[in-house]
Amino acid sequence: MAVERTFSIIKPDATKRNLTGAINALIEQAGLRIIAQKRLRMSRAEAETFYAVHRERPFFGELVDFMTSGPVVVQVLEGENAIAKYREIMGATDPAKAAPGTIRKLHGRNVGENSVHGSDAPETAVTEIGQFFSGNEIVG
Ligand code: RTP
Ligand code: MG
Repeated sequence: MAVERTFSIIKPDATKRNLTGAINALIEQAGLRIIAQKRLRMSRAEAETFYAVHRERPFFGELVDFMTSGPVVVQVLEGENAIAKYREIMGATDPAKAAPGTIRKLHGRNVGENSVHGSDAPETAVTEIGQFFSGNEIVG
């Protein structure tokens, strides 16, 4: 297993409920290191670019509305097998179907407002990190 980097977003439903620290604790307990982090409000253009792969899906408009509805915390996580490991501790997209102890089971509200995003592959991790961070903001 190699040390990898993945991109994470703590979504507006979670920042609104003051859960940034609780989610960061779960990330760190899993052995992932938060090597970059900032809180920002996504513009519609940023959200549309970020989720462009879902442009044709019926939930796209709702997803962009949600992701721009409040602050998010964008992060770079580093660790052994970080991409798969983070997907595992996030849990299934729908919190009702997520495994016990996962972030989405513990904190997600529904399939849209599911508290966190994590990259799904090495190529998407690189693209997503590059959308929000410049090299000197990432300190491993
Ligand atoms: P993410 O990209 O946010 O890490 O989540 P994911 O891979 O588990 O799920 P994905 O299929 O990529 O969907 C992206 C996000 O769109 C919202 N969604 N809403 N209303 C719906 O049926 C629905 N399906 C997906 C969720 O916020 C999901 O995380
Ligand atoms: Mg996804």
